[in-house]
Amino acid sequence: MGLGKKRDAAASGDGLLRVGIIGAGRVGSTVGYILGEKGYRLCGVCNRSVASTKRAARDLGTRAFDNPVQLAAESTLVLLTTPDDHIEGVCRRIAREGGFRPGQVVVHMSGALGSDCLDTAAREGAYPVSIHPLQTFVSFEKRNDLGGVFCAVEGHPRALPVARRLVRDLGGRFVEIDPKAKVLYHAAAVVACNYLVGVLDFATELFAATGVDRDEALKALLPLVKGTVDNLERVGIPAALSGPLARGDVETVKAHLSEIQAYEARAGNDFQWSLVYRTLGRKTLAVARARGLDREAAERLENLLGTTGPDGCREDEERTKGEERTMRREEGNGRQKNDPGFPAQEVGRQEDYHADGL
Ligand SMILES: NC(=O)c1ccc[n+]([C@@H]2O[C@H](COP(=O)([O-])OP(=O)(O)OC[C@H]3O[C@@H](n4cnc5c(N)ncnc54)[C@H](OP(=O)(O)O)[C@@H]3O)[C@@H](O)[C@H]2O)c1
Repeated sequence: MGLGKKRDAAASGDGLLRVGIIGAGRVGSTVGYILGEKGYRLCGVCNRSVASTKRAARDLGTRAFDNPVQLAAESTLVLLTTPDDHIEGVCRRIAREGGFRPGQVVVHMSGALGSDCLDTAAREGAYPVSIHPLQTFVSFEKRNDLGGVFCAVEGHPRALPVARRLVRDLGGRFVEIDPKAKVLYHAAAVVACNYLVGVLDFATELFAATGVDRDEALKALLPLVKGTVDNLERVGIPAALSGPLARGDVETVKAHLSEIQAYEARAGNDFQWSLVYRTLGRKTLAVARARGLDREAAERLENLLGTTGPDGCREDEERTKGEERTMRREEGNGRQKNDPGFPAQEVGRQEDYHADGL
């Protein structure tokens, strides 16, 4: 759905279209905007601060409320799109102060929380539902539609037809999810989205250790990531896997581990990158096996990435070695162990940091 379209009269007229948005931030404002374009009547918005409420009301061409209870009372569809930690409390307050009534639909859009956090609304006869669009919302200014986006939905049976219609009008894909599975579902999304950022931070740190500027390193790595994502889309897992694990290049992996350990020792920031490399490597090795890696290479890689390190020592021995290194450094710096003199990460930025990493 294009965001610039005129209001669509087809979506009006069933009494469930008076939308109140409590928490009109990135998600609430974007969703409100799309629904407005689709012909839903926006009753108003209510945020935490007056300035933010006024801004959202201006963006959406609707009224600014300073009281969520009053806004909920005027709405037939209440969107509670505050940050996760506020949803239950705001809902409880509206219920306590008489803002809900039987037949209203109350929606939150958190990925981690179930609709049961809206139980106080249900006790007033409203129908709670959670709708989680599996997409990031960066800002209202950079809003995007939900073209084909997976929307995980669970909640009161009477709310489901409304949720289905909402998802359709937002341009998403309605998928019902078991409420008990929601946390695991959200963990999957966090691994795919947020941990990707962590993994790329890891990669840029290693790249930067060769003397390349970090921003430059990220810029150089991104086409590689995009190509991999394209391959995942085209051929899926395990076919999209390439690289030394897929080829069974044991010596290459051994060299990586040895260099990463040497880097850890030089950088001295005690973050066990070799452990991260090995842990992710073991998961990736399972993909390589599924892709047809021969058994002997797989076993050698398993040993390398498994409980023993590249020089044959066990992980717990390596941890001890790491602790000894830390103590030596701290003694060298004239500091006591656990002295929080400066952040651990800054230790890695000492002047000799790059010297033998080039
Ligand atoms: N962002 C994403 O990528 C994304 C994706 C999928 C789902 N979600 C879910 O969508 C929901 C909203 O996330 P968001 O990223 O849109 O958050 P956000 O941009 O931080 O916006 C939150 C809004 O809630 C308002 N707010 C905070 N506490 C409030 C309270 N006690 N009463 C009324 N309003 C309050 C804030 O008002 P002020 O401006 O005055 O503080 C702000 O306008 C969350 O459940 C989140 O898990 C987010």
